[in-house]
Amino acid sequence: MPDRIPREFIDGLISRVDIVDIIDSRYPLKKSGSEFKACCPFHNEKTPSFHVIPVKQFYHCFGCGANGTAIDFLMRYDNLGFVEAVEELARTAGLVIPYVASEGGTQQRVSPSKRSEGESLYPIMEAASNFYQQALRQHQQAQRAIHYLKTRGVSGEIAKTFALGFAPDGWNNLTQALAKYSVQELSAAGLVKENSEKRSYYDRFRDRIIFPIRDPRGRVVALGGREIPGSAASSHGAKYLNSPETAIFHKGDELYGLFEARQQQREMARVIVVEGYMDVVSLFQYGIHNVVATLGTSVTRSHLTKLFRMTPEIVFCFDGDRAGKDAAWRGLENGLELMRGNRTLKFLFLPDGEDPDTLIRKGGTEAFLQRVEEAETLSHYFFEKLTSQVDLRQLDGQARLLELATPLLQKIPQGALRQLLSQRLAAMTNSHPIQPLPAESAGQPPAKYGKASGRRPHQGGRYGATSKQREPPSLVRRVISLLLQQPSLASEFEKLPQLSTLQLPGITLLVRLIDYLQQQPEVTLATIIEHWREDEEGRHLQSIAAIESLLQDDAEALKKEFVGAMMELDNLLLTQEHDQLLQRYQNGQITLDEKDRYRQVVEMLRKKREKH
Ligand code: GTP
Ligand code: MN
Repeated sequence: MPDRIPREFIDGLISRVDIVDIIDSRYPLKKSGSEFKACCPFHNEKTPSFHVIPVKQFYHCFGCGANGTAIDFLMRYDNLGFVEAVEELARTAGLVIPYVASEGGTQQRVSPSKRSEGESLYPIMEAASNFYQQALRQHQQAQRAIHYLKTRGVSGEIAKTFALGFAPDGWNNLTQALAKYSVQELSAAGLVKENSEKRSYYDRFRDRIIFPIRDPRGRVVALGGREIPGSAASSHGAKYLNSPETAIFHKGDELYGLFEARQQQREMARVIVVEGYMDVVSLFQYGIHNVVATLGTSVTRSHLTKLFRMTPEIVFCFDGDRAGKDAAWRGLENGLELMRGNRTLKFLFLPDGEDPDTLIRKGGTEAFLQRVEEAETLSHYFFEKLTSQVDLRQLDGQARLLELATPLLQKIPQGALRQLLSQRLAAMTNSHPIQPLPAESAGQPPAKYGKASGRRPHQGGRYGATSKQREPPSLVRRVISLLLQQPSLASEFEKLPQLSTLQLPGITLLVRLIDYLQQQPEVTLATIIEHWREDEEGRHLQSIAAIESLLQDDAEALKKEFVGAMMELDNLLLTQEHDQLLQRYQNGQITLDEKDRYRQVVEMLRKKREKH
């Protein structure tokens, strides 16, 4: 459990700092009357409509609507999470955060976060990076490095943009240059290694080209070193060498090129993720600035979270070989949970033997961008990958596909993407419908669909905080009971994603049940109960089935009751949507489309009332 920052501290912090200083130190403002102005950092404009209002300690852009406090600004401009933004503000204000351990709510003070322990490493990394940059310019051995960079087509200007450097050959060039730091400090920064026998230290990076890895704020947190082909040292050792994990460097969090990309543009329509440092550098040189690379790891959730804060679209641009495809798939798995709203994830697999660097040099910028345009969608790659593992002509294969896809689908937040994939999955398996189970095995579920999914907060959560439950829980329960009696009724249901936004007890169970029944239209009650037995929420199905009278089998009567219940749910959905839109209206956040929709909803509700 991470430590908590007390609410009162944040309130105090906000009153201590001045939003004008915070913004102005990053993005210069001009005074204008009692306010400050600038061209908005968050969208492109020629005349300033970005206002910072000191009396309110608030910023507002009349062009794009961006607004908020100093914390919001840091989150967006420096690409920080909330806690990071508070930590940054506290540092500026010279305050120590009184973290509180979060377990059990005990008000116990704990030591400052790891982040501040690492604080002393930043100047060391900066000094090391400067030393290596300087060496690339003037060290007597630098010629080979410069020559190599030239053969790779790297211009002097680009070398400067990326602060490329050169680590001369030798065991203690850096140790000597940074003699004002102790070897222990250099070691904590990952710059030197200890020789266990002789109890001495030596430089980690020797005879390599240095790629400083900067965090989104531009601070050097690690180094990557590439061997220089043909040099003595290159006959042993890896092609690339990275800094080890340190207090300020976690390779699963950092992205090479992110800082440089954001120097060009703060927020991007899309970001391309490539595999290599050289790919980032090359594409940048060819005018494609919205590129980042992982540091030799797969794309983590943390990477994607960072990227989705500044762009709605991420394109993985990987080798078309096995390793590249595996890496892309791992990235996809890590991204599923984040796929809400208008976010998109795309996949571009490169031809054999090419990487973005070689491709752009051969084909140029336009051709490369064209490939990016044509990248595969997530849905396409999702099914391409899964269907390649099964034989869809066989019943077993269809079952296997369901088994593989369902737990993944359940990771995706409710919304258009999840719906689309579910529908396609249903279509792919329904086109060769799975036969009912033979009687003797009717108690055995054909497949397990993963049982961990039920607890996910869904998107309606925010709304739910203010909405009252308008309907007794029995409605959901009634529908569930009807479905248990007559599973085929599930096919009547079309508005699954909307349904899941309803704030009613049991609604997630209902949605999952319908989803399941739509994919398995022929199941018996026994199969359902068995299938859900170990499921956190599904356990309740049993008790519902046990309590309600399931003996009634008048199909007509059941259907009639079901239609009635669906209409009730529909009314609830409309009412909820109505309230949501009205709230946006009142807050002045409503868009034109939403206004239109609001009128429609009001009209539909009016008609419904008239009918009764
Ligand atoms: P060039 O060969 O100079 O074009 O580099 P590249 O950026 O194209 O590298 P490549 O595609 O071979 O590898 C992609 C990324 O994987 C690199 O940028 C490194 O981050 C990482 N990597 C590659 N080789 C090694 C290695 O030997 N050791 C480590 N630790 N990482 C490596
Ligand atoms: Mn390469």
